[in-house]
Amino acid sequence: MSRVALSALALLALGLSQLVFLGSAQAAGNPEEGRKAFAKCRACHQLDAGKNAVGPSLAGLFGRKAGTAAGFKYSDAMVKSGITWNEETIAKYMADPKGFIPGNKMVFPGIKRETEIADLIAYLKDATK
Ligand code: HEC
Repeated sequence: MSRVALSALALLALGLSQLVFLGSAQAAGNPEEGRKAFAKCRACHQLDAGKNAVGPSLAGLFGRKAGTAAGFKYSDAMVKSGITWNEETIAKYMADPKGFIPGNKMVFPGIKRETEIADLIAYLKDATK
């Protein structure tokens, strides 16, 4: 291969890696916007450990198995879902609670805007610690 072709390839690779970088930067949500969006959840969820309301406390959510907040009476569907909460599963549940876990009892229609979901995840990551 010629020197010119090689350096063109190197440039292309550099460009691609930057695209990937930009892509992941865009996917990361804005925690401040997420805090505002959490108003929709706050009607039913507290972030303090042990404080269950209409919904379970979301303290320690990331890495927690679904249906395991102490003292909350979950639906069978939630307990038996076998899901562990992480960015991906929380996003899917927020987008379509009934579709993702059929029979669960969270009365929430779901969030359609992907940026809003990303913002909420960014907020919850820190706020549920
Ligand atoms: C109308 C009340 C209500 C609203 C609003 C609501 N939830 Fe829920 N949520 C619940 C209930 C009730 C459950 C338990 C569902 C079950 O046991 O089937 C739940 C369960 C959850 C769980 C699973 C928790 C666990 O311990 O396994 C997550 C995560 C969650 N909600 C996140 C959210 C987020 C994020 C929002 C806002 C975008 C939200 N919820 C809005 C009532 C609500």
